[in-house]
Amino acid sequence: MASRAFSTALRATARAAVSRPSVTIRPMSVLANTMKRTAVKSTISIQARSMKTLNFGGSEETVYERSDVPKEKLLDTFKNDTIAVLGYGPQGRGQALNLRDNGVNVIIGQREGKTYQQAVEEGWVPGKNLFPVLDAVEKGTVVMNLLSDAFQKEIWPQMKPLLTPGKTLYFSHGFSIVYKDQTNIEAPEGVDVILVAPKGSGFTVRRLFQEGRGINSSFAVHKDASGHAKERTIALGIGIGSGYMYETTFEKEVYSDLFGERGVLMGAIQGLFQAQYEVLRANGHSPSEAFNETVEEATQSLYPLIGEKGMDWMYSNCSTTAMRGALDWWKPFHDASKPVFEELYKSVRDGTETARSLDRNSQPDYREKLEEELREIRESEIWRTGKTVRQLRPENAGKN
Ligand SMILES: NC(=O)c1ccc[n+]([C@@H]2O[C@H](COP(=O)([O-])OP(=O)(O)OC[C@H]3O[C@@H](n4cnc5c(N)ncnc54)[C@H](OP(=O)(O)O)[C@@H]3O)[C@@H](O)[C@H]2O)c1
Repeated sequence: MASRAFSTALRATARAAVSRPSVTIRPMSVLANTMKRTAVKSTISIQARSMKTLNFGGSEETVYERSDVPKEKLLDTFKNDTIAVLGYGPQGRGQALNLRDNGVNVIIGQREGKTYQQAVEEGWVPGKNLFPVLDAVEKGTVVMNLLSDAFQKEIWPQMKPLLTPGKTLYFSHGFSIVYKDQTNIEAPEGVDVILVAPKGSGFTVRRLFQEGRGINSSFAVHKDASGHAKERTIALGIGIGSGYMYETTFEKEVYSDLFGERGVLMGAIQGLFQAQYEVLRANGHSPSEAFNETVEEATQSLYPLIGEKGMDWMYSNCSTTAMRGALDWWKPFHDASKPVFEELYKSVRDGTETARSLDRNSQPDYREKLEEELREIRESEIWRTGKTVRQLRPENAGKN
């Protein structure tokens, strides 16, 4: 995902270019000078419907932003639709609330229980715009399947007959469609099958939208029965609160997503933190010292700098001693971890990760089992130390 600062700079440049009437006939060299002046190392060209083709590190990609789908266009696109969001989990909640705030006609399909109660508390009315899952499928013309990936498989035989020609089936993950050998999910004829996958949790989808920001999302069209699937996918992606959107395929989305979350985004980061902490502790460093040198400095000081302007920017804001060491050691870490990443990609691609996920997350007590493993992490020394360190942040003084 592009850093916020980077994408903000791109947007600013794009806006500046759009506001000049002569931009479409300007030679690229002039545009390149514009880019230099704004210190953005990208070329930009403005195309029909104002989508933008940008140079991402040497490769051209077309991206779509909110300016491509103004509110009137969003509402016009879905003026005859009922958008049924299935599941009020993190993604369902975030996407449904953002669509509702954007003025789109949304209903929710959610089983009764704690999550259903939350939906009621957040203004969804049983029988009016909050229904049992299959009732919502029946009523919806755009069915946004944001149930857990494991439950998508379970409910499919009952859902499929309700997806009549002309409807749209939407996912936020390529999982169910790509691994159809394991899920048996194949949409009926005459149904558009599309995807918008926010690159972050549903919680962030909502929070960034409320802050006037947006999470980046990929989008893909698997089946275009209507002839308008791409246009509608882009509109829906903006409607749920995306920042910018880039095109992918269902396959590429699911491979990169399963790979990324098992890797640097979640799995690898805990593995690296834990290993470094253990070595520091084994060498006599206190928990406070080990945690500060491993996690607190990373999340509070250095990683935000990576987000702002990249790795070299973070390095260059550290001492020359730190920089020398980092420049010497990133390659051994790279070489040691690359075979693990290669093994992981293979395990994603051959369906091993999917099979494990479907099996484990379809057991009746899967939530309790996941919670048990999270508890192990929470109660490990590193994260117990982290809790105390967080309480000591000046901004948390006096809070629990
Ligand atoms: N989380 C992310 O970062 C992320 C990002 C992009 C895309 N996605 C995709 O978005 C989709 C939804 O994910 P999520 O993050 O919202 O959380 P999730 O935990 O995968 O799904 C939660 C929803 O599924 C329902 N559900 C689970 N088991 C059920 C069952 N046996 N019967 C009825 N309903 C059941 C939950 O209802 P209850 O609360 O009642 O159990 C809740 O509404 C998935 O396809 C996921 O891959 C997730």
